[in-house]
Amino acid sequence: METRSAPEHSCTRERSLPARAGVGFKSAHFSDIEASAPDVGFFEIHAENYMGDGGPPHAQLMRLRRDFPLSIHGVGLSIGGAERLDREHLRRVKFLADRYAPAAFSEHLAWSTQGARFLNDLLPLPYNATTLAHVVAHVDEIQETLGRPILLENPAAYLRFQSSDYSEIDFLREVVRRTDCRLLLDVTNAYVSATNLAFSAEDYINAFPMSYVEEIHLAGYAEDADEIGDPLLIDAHCAPVQDAVWRLYDRALALRGPVATLIEWDNDVPAWPLLLEQAARAARFLDKQRSGFGDNARSEALHDGVG
Ligand SMILES: [Fe+2]
Repeated sequence: METRSAPEHSCTRERSLPARAGVGFKSAHFSDIEASAPDVGFFEIHAENYMGDGGPPHAQLMRLRRDFPLSIHGVGLSIGGAERLDREHLRRVKFLADRYAPAAFSEHLAWSTQGARFLNDLLPLPYNATTLAHVVAHVDEIQETLGRPILLENPAAYLRFQSSDYSEIDFLREVVRRTDCRLLLDVTNAYVSATNLAFSAEDYINAFPMSYVEEIHLAGYAEDADEIGDPLLIDAHCAPVQDAVWRLYDRALALRGPVATLIEWDNDVPAWPLLLEQAARAARFLDKQRSGFGDNARSEALHDGVG
């Protein structure tokens, strides 16, 4: 197998993402970003969009990386799968991480491969001792390969498994306890799951192990209906963040304190000013927390360890 070393670069790795609002990077916005030096805290990219060696994607990313902290978000490692990790894919992810020295690397509590097939979805898993062993082994392997803790993201759920023995939060707590990974709280996913599975999104946020959260995601969902006409929300990343999600985000910040927050908008990508406006709105919530609101709730939440 060919081995490559990461090219020389001038990126210094920040220890963590700044507690500011960031946005997902889309090449359609590159000229706007270059022209305006926007006031955003960081950019996030999907690792799988940068698996090639060079060309315009990497030229743009190197340029961006000179001025902004970077978060790399994986969507293809299939951490929740029963099969062993794709070592070639992991090797490419490591090469990318070595090249750009991101402030954070995150992946999903989900699976997306079956044999050699890559399914174009992040699929949910039951939460039980068998899946816990797989997830822990996969997180351990990724962290060992990358030489750093990763952030594991809560998924959007559309069904509940009979074979689950853990709540999602207890499962995440156990993964953190066994692997020393950190968490990415996707507030939209929490709201989507709560609506689809009829539980309280507020209770979910209140119970989330906030002291391990190093990044928050916010996105716009799409609305549909299931076969009996009940609302079905889809984590579509295709719209402005809805009011219910902003309210939940406010509660999460009151518990966690200011933390890096990403506006995820991957489909029907908006004009740059609209994306920037969403980031500015998140920044106002962060400023509110910095000015001292939510201190009581936060001190309780941050003493909530995982055992
Ligand atoms: Fe997300």
